[in-house]
Amino acid sequence: MFSALRIFALMGVLGAAGVRGAQYGLAKDYSGPSFFNDWVFYDHFDDTMNGDTIFVSAANASSQHLAFVDPGTNRAIIKVDNTSFVPFNQKRDSVRISTKDTFGIGTVWVVDMWHAPFGCSVWPALWTFSPGAQWPAGGEIDIFEGINLHPTSQMGLHTTPGCTQVSPQQTSKIVNGTDCQGAAGCIVTNDNPASYGPAFAQANGGVFVTELAESGVSIWFFERANIPAGLTNNASTVDTSTLGTPMGNWPSGGCDISKFFLQQTLVFDITFCGDFAGSPQFFPQTCSGVCYTDYVINNGTSQYANAYFDVGYVRVFSSNVTGSGSGSGGNGTSSGGAGSSGSSGGMPRLSVFGGIGGLVAGVVMVVYCLV
Ligand SMILES: *[C@@H]1O[C@H](CO)[C@@H](O)[C@H](O)[C@H]1NC(C)=O
Ligand SMILES: *[C@@H]1O[C@H](CO)[C@@H](O)[C@H](O)[C@H]1NC(C)=O
Ligand SMILES: *[C@@H]1O[C@H](CO)[C@@H](O)[C@H](O)[C@H]1NC(C)=O
Ligand SMILES: *[C@@H]1O[C@H](CO)[C@@H](O)[C@H](O)[C@H]1NC(C)=O
Ligand SMILES: *[C@@H]1O[C@H](CO)[C@@H](O)[C@H](O)[C@H]1NC(C)=O
Ligand SMILES: *[C@@H]1O[C@H](CO)[C@@H](O)[C@H](O)[C@H]1NC(C)=O
Ligand SMILES: *[C@@H]1O[C@H](CO)[C@@H](O)[C@H](O)[C@H]1NC(C)=O
Repeated sequence: MFSALRIFALMGVLGAAGVRGAQYGLAKDYSGPSFFNDWVFYDHFDDTMNGDTIFVSAANASSQHLAFVDPGTNRAIIKVDNTSFVPFNQKRDSVRISTKDTFGIGTVWVVDMWHAPFGCSVWPALWTFSPGAQWPAGGEIDIFEGINLHPTSQMGLHTTPGCTQVSPQQTSKIVNGTDCQGAAGCIVTNDNPASYGPAFAQANGGVFVTELAESGVSIWFFERANIPAGLTNNASTVDTSTLGTPMGNWPSGGCDISKFFLQQTLVFDITFCGDFAGSPQFFPQTCSGVCYTDYVINNGTSQYANAYFDVGYVRVFSSNVTGSGSGSGGNGTSSGGAGSSGSSGGMPRLSVFGGIGGLVAGVVMVVYCLV
């Protein structure tokens, strides 16, 4: 408490509202029949997480029914191939998509998920990274990440050296690491018992809110029954000061956000095994057998019936957008070159580079005091 108060004092004009508390207007809405319009499909095997996975193209995902809007619910389904026979030594098809637009400091992503993938050998993630930089330069924010049959999901940051989690104002009691550099990252376990797996599905999922502000990064998770009023009714603004204490928080006191985070693209992916789900340390914790040969290959049907995202919407809010207009014009977003974010540009996660370039990136900051 005491040190947290000191950090607030240091933040000067941002004051108590600094950690969270700005008002943001709607800049981009991904929902309904047009959900998939403004995403790039990876269209390449998994070369960043070493999963046993081919991330298919948009046309392939569409024809195989791996990415589609369910006409019954109007929600987006992102899933793995759970119908094909995969011979030994081959990879299984799945989906990785990232937003064409990139989003800078002063962004809130609100993601409504009704179901998230789980099961042995499955490693789903909702995360952001900077397509214009050599990872981990430009920063990565993991919003939701789970493996196998683990009881909970996790969240965290990955950066170049010099960013640490200091005096967070967060509800999670489980901190896995406070040094954000590289593949290890500063990870916080989402200790809500419904943050992953069957419990998440049973609760009809929930809403993740991620704020990338000059004053820090904050991630809230609300299971469906507890979604705050301010996030319902398709509101065209979000005020993060009304959301309570976040599940995870990385204040600028330990991490100069404007130095470590460049424009971010938002990503959904589901991979198999790889460096995390398939690791000898983690795989045996909740699953038996061998990740690749006992799950990924052969029919792969029954074990992947839960390996899908069911997404109500992704809505992106910007500190550059004010008022309560329709806001659908993409104001405050900047198009970061779809191709560079989607193809194999960048090497997010698990490939450690020096990334000195990212440290000198000049980010022009505009501080909005809207309240
Ligand atoms: C989709 O891509 C896979 C390669 O991962 C290929 O084997 C398959 O034939 C493609 N399917 C369609 C319908 O294009
Ligand atoms: C984080 O810590 C929790 C509690 O000790 C543990 O269950 C979990 O596996 C850890 N996560 C990682 C990625 O080490
Ligand atoms: C895959 O499924 C088919 C059809 O059900 C079955 O005939 C075959 O034995 C299965 N193969 C394996 C390796 O499980
Ligand atoms: C494949 O997964 C879907 C959900 O994504 C499920 O509805 C379907 O039953 C699964 N198919 C099999 C054969 O398990
Ligand atoms: C929510 O608002 C956005 C932007 O104004 C609009 O495109 C979308 O259709 C709305 N969704 C619903 C369910 O009303
Ligand atoms: C924001 O939107 C308004 C109204 O659509 C438009 O006039 C203005 O140019 C936009 N500003 C930016 C920075 O895109
Ligand atoms: C807000 O606008 C400024 C000036 O155009 C830009 O540098 C900044 O990246 C924008 N912020 C967001 C969140 O888009």
